[in-house]
Amino acid sequence: MYSEEQVARLSQERLKRFFLKGTGQRAGSVKVKPELAAAITFEPLNLLAPDWGLRERFDVIFCRNVMIYFDKPTQGRILERFAPLLKPGGLLFAGHSENFSYVTRAFQLRGQTVYELASDAARAGRA
Ligand SMILES: C[S@@+](CC[C@H](N)C(=O)[O-])C[C@H]1O[C@@H](n2cnc3c(N)ncnc32)[C@H](O)[C@@H]1O
Repeated sequence: MYSEEQVARLSQERLKRFFLKGTGQRAGSVKVKPELAAAITFEPLNLLAPDWGLRERFDVIFCRNVMIYFDKPTQGRILERFAPLLKPGGLLFAGHSENFSYVTRAFQLRGQTVYELASDAARAGRA
């Protein structure tokens, strides 16, 4: 559930498609529709754990404002473990004040705070 303020920047089309408007005591808030919620799983993951237990590959990884807790060698090791978890063409989103360019060669900056796999960049003739 989110406050209407939190979703104010979504388009009316997206709001209508994915959210239910609260009424009565829930007025002023919205709830994700069950069909969208069913497609999402929430699980804790300790980035420092030796095995993340992930067997699937992802289109996108959001890892924003988390690396600040780790020293640079640890950041590098985590980022190198992200690389094989991304599908070709997959993207890694960092926080606005984070820069992974000096931490690993596995990723290359694609746009502001967005990284792509370095091999993807090479294939696209940009590396
Ligand atoms: C500053 S918050 C950022 C939260 C969110 N990603 C954001 O950008 O708003 C830092 C997050 O890092 C998580 N974190 C710290 N150590 C972690 C670890 N070893 N593995 C996974 N997450 C960790 C904390 O639980 C916390 O949610």
